[in-house]
Amino acid sequence: MIIGSLKELNDGEKRTAISPETCKKFVKLGFSVLLENNAGISSNFTNKSYEEAGAQLKENKLDIIKEVDVLLSVSSLPELSIIENSKQNLIILGTFNPYENSKILKELEIKKINVISLDLLPRISRAQSMDVLSSQANLAGYRAVILASNIFKKAFPMMMTAAGTIIPAKCLVLGAGVAGLQAIATAKRLGCVVTAFDVRPEVEDQVKSLGAKFIKVENNEDKAEKNTVYAKEMSEEYKLKQKNKIHDCAKDMDIIITTAMIPGKKAPILIENKTLQDMKLGSVIIDLAGETGGNTEGGKFGEEVMVEKVIINSPINLPSLVAYDASSLYAKNILNFISAFIKEDKSFDINSDDELLTKSIIIKNGLKTKNFFEDNNNA
Ligand code: NAI
Repeated sequence: MIIGSLKELNDGEKRTAISPETCKKFVKLGFSVLLENNAGISSNFTNKSYEEAGAQLKENKLDIIKEVDVLLSVSSLPELSIIENSKQNLIILGTFNPYENSKILKELEIKKINVISLDLLPRISRAQSMDVLSSQANLAGYRAVILASNIFKKAFPMMMTAAGTIIPAKCLVLGAGVAGLQAIATAKRLGCVVTAFDVRPEVEDQVKSLGAKFIKVENNEDKAEKNTVYAKEMSEEYKLKQKNKIHDCAKDMDIIITTAMIPGKKAPILIENKTLQDMKLGSVIIDLAGETGGNTEGGKFGEEVMVEKVIINSPINLPSLVAYDASSLYAKNILNFISAFIKEDKSFDINSDDELLTKSIIIKNGLKTKNFFEDNNNA
């Protein structure tokens, strides 16, 4: 089989879906690798490093699309006019955010094309090495704190100098999933005093093990899911208690990193305008949940705005700012996924009934799958 990748099309996307390391491994597995010239250059992977890993580079997208059986992507799809020139059974693999892009994806009901969106992979332990959302969110959590430190007009760590003492910055992290836990760890390493909150009580130990304080909201209804990786929507009574608790804590904070999300739903608003009014001048909020509506009232996805006295930055694609590492991890996730479905004849078997495939394949043989488009009411 021939595996290939084109330069990413989305604005500001510096990542790539194949690294020289994974290229070498695909060749070892029996694939041929075809890449667009400079496909990895913005991740600091040179054409030479791909050639040394066994890839063939081509200047023209059409020369690649006509030949490949599997097309790897980070988040962008080639134009339809390009895809139309592909082989009948092309498999496209990437992260296409189907909850937001279901209309665009349905346009791919052409030929017998197959589209696998790895952001739909179930977060089960067997899939950890393929979990693109986690590998990228981890870097986003790190980069969110670095971004906050660039915007904030004070230092993060405590410093005792001859001219006086600088007190450490106070940081609140809302949502202690993958991005949140890494944000906590990074803020701690930079010297902040860190507090965190999550609706899942079982993350308390993880938060504390990173040296942060965990704030709790009493939940008599016990609706918080225990031992699950994703949160469920909470009751109105819980939400009110939570907002009050966050309000009391946020007033005293310098930095807030918000990462709260519920898959397939709008992000919960955790910081309301009345909280912003009571926060300190120049405090910084990095709202990672902007793509699904944001956790902060007044935040604008992709922009930095000042609301009341607070700077709210809702970044679009933080992993792309650490493109080398983000691409390396993403490419390994993809390699691990494909490796799990290689048949004896060295082809990539997309007909397995393994849930890793059935849950992530959204177009199969040119038809949208029941699993995503119908079961999730996304048709
Ligand atoms: P995750 O699912 O691992 O973590 C989300 C956490 O939020 C969970 O622990 C969940 O329990 C918690 N949560 C849900 N509702 C809550 C509420 N009402 N109050 C407090 N906590 C609540 O998700 P992950 O992978 O850490 O991603 C977090 C967010 O970051 C997502 O919105 C994701 O789209 C975004 N993201 C943004 C990037 C960017 O560059 N802007 C890059 C990568 C991820």
